[in-house]
Amino acid sequence: MDAFIIQGGKRLRGTVRINGSKNATLPLMAAALLTDDPITLNDVPNLADIRNMAGLLESLGCQMQFDTAAHQMTLHATDRTKNTAHYKIVRTMRASISVLGPLLAKRGYARVSMPGGCNIGDRPVDLHLRGLEAMGVQIHLDEGYIVAEIPQGSRLQGARIFLGGTFGSTVLGTANILSAATLAEGTTMIESAACEPEIVGLADMLNAMGANISGAGSPRITIEGVETLSGTDVTVMPDRIEAGTYIMAGAITNGDVTLENCPMDAMSAVLDVLTRIGVEVEVRGNGADPMRQTVRVASARRLSPVHITTQPHPGFPTDLQAQVMALLCLADGNSIITEKIFPDRFLHVAELLRMGASLIRNGPSVLVSGVHELIGAPVMASDLRASAGLVLAGLAARGTTTINRVYHLDRGYERMELTLQQLGADIQRVNHDVV
Ligand code: EPZ
Repeated sequence: MDAFIIQGGKRLRGTVRINGSKNATLPLMAAALLTDDPITLNDVPNLADIRNMAGLLESLGCQMQFDTAAHQMTLHATDRTKNTAHYKIVRTMRASISVLGPLLAKRGYARVSMPGGCNIGDRPVDLHLRGLEAMGVQIHLDEGYIVAEIPQGSRLQGARIFLGGTFGSTVLGTANILSAATLAEGTTMIESAACEPEIVGLADMLNAMGANISGAGSPRITIEGVETLSGTDVTVMPDRIEAGTYIMAGAITNGDVTLENCPMDAMSAVLDVLTRIGVEVEVRGNGADPMRQTVRVASARRLSPVHITTQPHPGFPTDLQAQVMALLCLADGNSIITEKIFPDRFLHVAELLRMGASLIRNGPSVLVSGVHELIGAPVMASDLRASAGLVLAGLAARGTTTINRVYHLDRGYERMELTLQQLGADIQRVNHDVV
């Protein structure tokens, strides 16, 4: 298993281009199942999750070309007889559930393994299934698989669907219902839809394929079903979580970092929090596209404590919770971070404590008392974003930090160590057993 070895204390300087968004790409890939034509995606990040989704779609009858150097992917669903998403793939990547809606809309049948939980908490799909049942899908569980079908020769039926759960809406649930509704008979209205920018990106692509969707990005999305969808060629939006991670890497090392292709228009809550902490993010030039701007990061010598609660978009994203916790470990005072989306998403807390952080967890909240410095230590990555938080802590810590099991990180960041090396970090990837 690979590990990172980081010698902390280096101030990051230089420029990094933000890659296309993993969480935007995955539902776009699944949407290839909705058409008999090829789909081309540009600026696709070369990540483990993307390659896993490509493997899953190939097993579902999609021909795939992925030019990882050019970050371009072409998908063409040609074989509609393969309709099982096997457990061995689905258990490695929860986003596999995104194929359910497209398979049902186009083929009328799907057998998809239940995703199961993961390190950030239970990952139920009850909202997905309830929405599909409202569209006429018959669903039962069989040996851990969701078996879903509609009567032979029939179509999904448009319906009014409420997707609000205990923890707010569901991003991939909205993607599933939105995709399925494009080929349904009649009108579908999704109430309490996820408002994430990645949903807007999916709706934009589906409309380019001939769908009739309005309201994406708002809590109410209306879809007028159509008979067929055609192919298209789109560019994936930049990754707002990768951008937030590298902004915080610049801030935690008190560096001077410039980010290109930064989706500032999707990061208001992140910028609000960073500004209150004392991190300045200056937009350079007058880039026409507010989703692809160049920004320069500078931070005050002293970081200020803040109170943060993770929320569905446009609130502060749960996917940046571990990273901002690492940053606040070095703030001048006490911060409180409350996790409203995945209340158990705190596996990074124990590892940060090993590095000298002062953290007290109380249910869905953590009190972060700023310390003068973090001290390098061997730590264990547990999930994608917790790993990113540990990297940030290691960049700032005194001494050496070894981060084991960085395969978690490779799911969502393309060769992070190379990017950080280009910014002057002393970080190496080694093939390393747990120390
Ligand atoms: C997406 O996951 C993202 N993944 C996650 O990013 C992100 O953390 C999450 O949205 C929240 O923003 C992708 O887009 C591939 P949800 P998703 O359904 O859609 C509950 C990363 O690090 N819920 O919006 O699976 C659920 O338990 C990943 O890149 C139900 O109760 O998340 C959670 O508490 C991690 N029933 C809340 O809703 C359901 O049927 C939000 O989950 C579905 C979800």
